[in-house]
Amino acid sequence: MTKVSFEGQVVAITGAGGGLGRAYALEIAARGGAVVVNDLGGAVTGGGASTGYADAVVDEIRASGGRAVASYDSVATVAGGEQIITAALDHFGRIDAVIANAGNMRYAPFEELTLDDLNALLAVHIGGSWNVAKAAWGHMKRQAYGRLVFTTSSGGMFGTQKLSAYGAAKGGVMGLMHSLADEGQPHGIICNAVMPNAMSRMTSNIQAGELGDNPWGAKVPKTFDPAFTVGLSAYLASRDCVTAHGIYTALGGRIGRAFVGVAEGMHGSIDVPPTVEDVAANWELIRDASRGYAIPGSVSDEWRSVVEGRY
Ligand code: NAI
Repeated sequence: MTKVSFEGQVVAITGAGGGLGRAYALEIAARGGAVVVNDLGGAVTGGGASTGYADAVVDEIRASGGRAVASYDSVATVAGGEQIITAALDHFGRIDAVIANAGNMRYAPFEELTLDDLNALLAVHIGGSWNVAKAAWGHMKRQAYGRLVFTTSSGGMFGTQKLSAYGAAKGGVMGLMHSLADEGQPHGIICNAVMPNAMSRMTSNIQAGELGDNPWGAKVPKTFDPAFTVGLSAYLASRDCVTAHGIYTALGGRIGRAFVGVAEGMHGSIDVPPTVEDVAANWELIRDASRGYAIPGSVSDEWRSVVEGRY
């Protein structure tokens, strides 16, 4: 097995002052990559700021002989995104990969969440992914090489109670990845997304058992350590990953592709629109994925799969 190396590469990791981002930064630096360790250093909900989070990780990397620089910028602003990439260029001369990992969280029943809560999450998850990807995009296009790893969540993919604002934001990140994957691939920019599941500052605020049925109570298995997601995210950020447009879940030691698919469904007449009764009568057929499904690689892919041969 060839060793996956980041020698000669520069990777910017947002929200890398703790949890998953810290684990990614340490791994990539240990594999020879120079790392921009970005972290605003605020609270889980997003307020406040400090330099301590990013500095501590940079110190850790340097103490082991690695190369890293701290960034305390907020990903939620255009200027913040640009400064993160500028830090990579100023200190290390290039940018090869970005892991857009910074995140905040509001965990409450729908009736308690406000539009301000939603906007705070959209700004960091969607805005943050957008800002940092956009700042790197032109450089990656010019060098015909780039890796963008976005961070979505089962909260956005599958949904669960008390995560409506967070789920909306993470769903948006997925949409961003889908489009950028299609747009970036001809330019050598490979985009993918991860769905981590790890104990971190963010998730430790959630009571054991609240996110669905947690059979372990307070004793969470070690497979929920951020270390169990590192291999996946680092691989997606590496030269070795040449496959775009994927969403990959890391959960309890299992890594697998998660995808958006379309069931074969009901193919009605192309002359007469289906009636409400037609839909009602075929409801099981429309929902049934056991007869096969497609995983469209793009909008036109879905179009082709339905339209080709029928007109
Ligand atoms: P964490 O709270 O330890 O890490 C998130 C980091 O992002 C924090 O250090 C925080 O200071 C930083 N951050 C927040 N707002 C920022 C901003 N505006 N600019 C720059 N940095 C900012 O949590 P964790 O679990 O390591 O989360 C990492 C990512 O993984 C997040 O995007 C989270 O939503 C996502 N995720 C985590 C899951 C888990 O099970 N831990 C599940 C699914 C997704």
